[in-house]
Order: sequence, then C-alpha cells, then structure tokens
Amino acid sequence: MNKFLVEKSPPLRGNVRISGAKNSALPILAASLLGTEDIILEDVPQLKDVEVMCEVLSSLGAKVEFLDKGVIKINSKDINNYETPYELMSKMRASFLVMGPLLTRLGKTKTSLPGGCAIGTRPIDLHLKGFRALGAEIDVDHGYIGAYADKLVGDRIYLDFPSVGATENIMMAAVMAEGETIIDNAAMEPEIVDLANFLNKMGAQIKGVGTSSIKIIGVKELGGATHSIIPDRIEAGTFMVAAAITKGDVIVENVITSHIKPVIAKLRESGCEVWEEEDKVRVIGTEDLKAVDIKTLPYPGFPTDMQAQFMALMSVAKGTSVIIETVFENRFMHVDELKRMGADIKIDGRSAILQGTDSLMSAPVKATDLRAGAALVLAGLIADGVTEISDIYHIDRGYEDMEQKFAQLGAKIYRV
Ligand code: UD1
Repeated sequence: MNKFLVEKSPPLRGNVRISGAKNSALPILAASLLGTEDIILEDVPQLKDVEVMCEVLSSLGAKVEFLDKGVIKINSKDINNYETPYELMSKMRASFLVMGPLLTRLGKTKTSLPGGCAIGTRPIDLHLKGFRALGAEIDVDHGYIGAYADKLVGDRIYLDFPSVGATENIMMAAVMAEGETIIDNAAMEPEIVDLANFLNKMGAQIKGVGTSSIKIIGVKELGGATHSIIPDRIEAGTFMVAAAITKGDVIVENVITSHIKPVIAKLRESGCEVWEEEDKVRVIGTEDLKAVDIKTLPYPGFPTDMQAQFMALMSVAKGTSVIIETVFENRFMHVDELKRMGADIKIDGRSAILQGTDSLMSAPVKATDLRAGAALVLAGLIADGVTEISDIYHIDRGYEDMEQKFAQLGAKIYRV
C-alpha cells in the first residue's frame, strides 16, 4: 500500500493551479445519465472517486470516453441497467447520487445501502423523503434499497437539514417530474449551483439555486451539454493553509474567491496576509500566528471539509482555539494522529480545544479519511524529521497530483 514521506519543508513559495472540484464533478457525472445526447465535461479532476463514478456510469450502460486530460465525453442514450453494483457502491458513497437520475429516467433504481463511514453514520433519510414526495415507492430489502415510480409528480419538499447530497439527488429526480417541485431549506453550496447550471444547459428549468429555496419545473427530456467544472474550493483552501503553516508566500490560481470567503476570513484573523484578485489568491504566512476559533456550518459557513486542515494550522498557533464541528457527528479522527505529532488537543463532544505548541514532530501516522489525510500532510510540512503517512488512498480520492503540486512550491513529499 502506498505511503507518503513528508519532509520538513522550507516556507512554500510560488504558484499552484487548482483543479476542478471533486464535489461538483461527481454529481455532474451522475446527472449525465439524464441526457440522451453527447455530454462533454471539461476540467474534470483525475481522481480515484471520479474513476469510480465513471465505472458506475459504464456499468449502467452509458458510454464514457476520456478525450484529453480532464475532458470526458459521455453518452447515456442507451442506458439499460438500473442497479448499481455493490462493489462500486461500497467503494464510494457518492455512487448513491445516480439514484435520482435513474429514478426519473427509467422509473426505477436499485443500489446497496451506503454503509457508515469514518466521519459518521451519514443516513440517507432526506434523499428518500424527497423521492417519496415525488411519488416513488421505496423498498429496503437485504441491504439493498430500491425506488420505483411509474410517474414522478412535483411537490414541495422541506429538508430537515440542508444536506448537499439530498438536495442534489432530489433536484436530479425532479428535473423530469410532472409540474413544479420546490426544495425548501436546500443546501446552497457552490457545487449545487454548478450542478444546476449544467442541468439547465441540458434543458432543465431550475431557479433559485444558491438560495435555500430551489424551484424546478419538470421538462419532458434533457439533451446534451458542454460544461466546465468549477474550481475545487477545498483544494484551494488546503494550499492556502499550506502557505500559512509553512510561513510561506503562495499564489493559488484558478479559484473563485467568493467560494472561499470563510477560509480567507479565518486566515486573516489568524494574522496571515491574504490578497484577492479576480481568479487568484495570494497567502503570506506570519511569524506571529494567532489562535482563532472555528465552527463548521453548511455553506456559506466555514466548510467541514476544511476543519481538519485548520486544526493542523491551529496546533501551532499562539494561544487556545476552539474548533466546533456541527455538520458531522464524528469528524475528529485526525485528532489522535495530530496528537502523535505533538499537538495539544482535547475533545469535548463536538468541540476540540487546542493549545498551540511551538513545533510538531514527525511520527508514523494514518490518513483516516480524505481531509484528515490532507491535515497530516500539512502537519508533516512543519514537523521535525520525516513524517510517514499511511493509507494515502484516501488522499488520492480527492486531491489531483498532490505531491507534484507541493513539489512545485518547494516541498518534498515522496510516494513510496
Ligand atoms: C457532501 C460532500 C462532502 C462534505 C459534505 C458537507 C460530496 C460528494 N461530498 O457530502 O465532502 O463534507 O457534503 O459539506 O459532495 N444527513 C442526514 N440525512 C440525509 C443526508 C445527510 O441526516 O439524508 C446528514 C449527514 O449525516 C451529515 C449532514 O447531513 O451529518 C451533512 O451531510 P450532507 O450535506 O448530505 O453531505 P454529503 O452530501 O454526504
């Protein structure tokens, strides 16, 4: 199994280009099942999760071609299978996003139930609440879940929590339902807006995305589209924190600055300099890094996907910081690993209390999930000695060319 060896790094310097967003690419790939004509997707990040989603599409009968780096052509005219195989579902939870498109396109869909995962139980009740409201019958049997409907009819759906996945799945199911669907307390993440923009290019009629109330007027069918995936705000945030933690000076290119406002704000609060340009952001670290408090929230709040990376940063800030995780109930798996590297962290329910230390030390550590892995890389950049990170397949699920991008900025990360 691959490992990363991360050497203590000099302050990072230079430019790095951010890839397309994983969390946009996955639902948009799933949505390509809805169209009957060619779809061309650009700026698709080359990641393990994207590979798995392409395998899911192929298993359902879609034609998937890789045209160039980051360019994928999909044709779903002849999809003929409504069941997602267990092996693919178990590799990636987001495979569940094909349920909405299959339900509306074929009138039926079946998949194995997504299991729990390291960051919490992650139920799917809200996805199913939406499917039921549109008229589907749900059937759970022997670990499989099926949704069936002769006809979907629009309705008003209130989400008890603004779940990203549920908003996406329900929106995709509703695009060809009869009449009007309204999703209230919908998620407002930029990836939802990107998905809706893509669906509208295919001929859907979706309004209100980016607000908490999304209106979808059903259409008879969807065609093709060409679409570029938005930049990955979490990858951008990770490199911004890398600049801060190494007291470096990094220009992060291909970003939409409005998507990373909470990260910019918290870095400034901690004493870093952040300069914004149209599609770039420059982060200059400080010798006098101050402890700041973080509370994760649905967008536009501070992203849970940046919590672990900020924890690595706060572990070497001056003073005490409190990090509260409100989105997932068990997303502190990285704490024990950071403590092995000398961080002073105490957990109290959903809060982590950090007492900043002067330095971290290298240790053998394990990437327990994708963003936890990124946090350990950041910690490794400033730890004395060589940090050995195992289980880096988690990192490969969500970061394109991570070690090359870091090398470009002067860091030494080796894959062994
Ligand atoms: C997506 C992102 C993930 C990010 C998360 C929150 C993708 C592929 N993944 O995950 O990187 O961390 O948003 O920003 O886009 N919940 C329920 N019932 C449901 C669905 C969700 O209770 O039916 C709960 C979950 O347990 C969790 C919270 O809602 O506590 C947020 O989950 P959700 O927004 O659905 O996250 P994902 O779409 O799985």
